[in-house]
Amino acid sequence: MSNNQEAAEAETRAPRSARTPVEYPVGRASEFPPGAHKIVQVGTQEVGVFNVNGDFHALINVCPHQYGPVCAGPVGGEMSCNAKTDWKFHWSRDGEILICPWHGLEFDLITGHCLAPKEMRLRKCKVKVVDGEVRVSLGSG
Ligand code: FES
Repeated sequence: MSNNQEAAEAETRAPRSARTPVEYPVGRASEFPPGAHKIVQVGTQEVGVFNVNGDFHALINVCPHQYGPVCAGPVGGEMSCNAKTDWKFHWSRDGEILICPWHGLEFDLITGHCLAPKEMRLRKCKVKVVDGEVRVSLGSG
């Protein structure tokens, strides 16, 4: 039985009132170098785990637009042209913007918010590294 299955069973056995968030091991941190991401199974959910410049972020793999597999999309940056950039095109935030593969909505990997419309948001999970192991728990992160 895998560590992930054991964690899922422990979560199911505990009475609801006694439940604390269960941490699911999803791999070694070395498997997620900066800029890399993987979709992993966490209990009953698919979760995208992203290493953004050395910080880990985990998001449920469901797009709030039409439920597409958002974490399977490419990661890029943001083009801006405004007063801050002296009205010149400027590429920024490379590696921080996730693009849904179905219709192209862009999401901030750090906050989960859609770049437009802003009220749309991905669900984040808690993620941490313990002794070199990446652990994800369902619940807001
Ligand atoms: S399902 Fe993600 S943009 Fe439409």
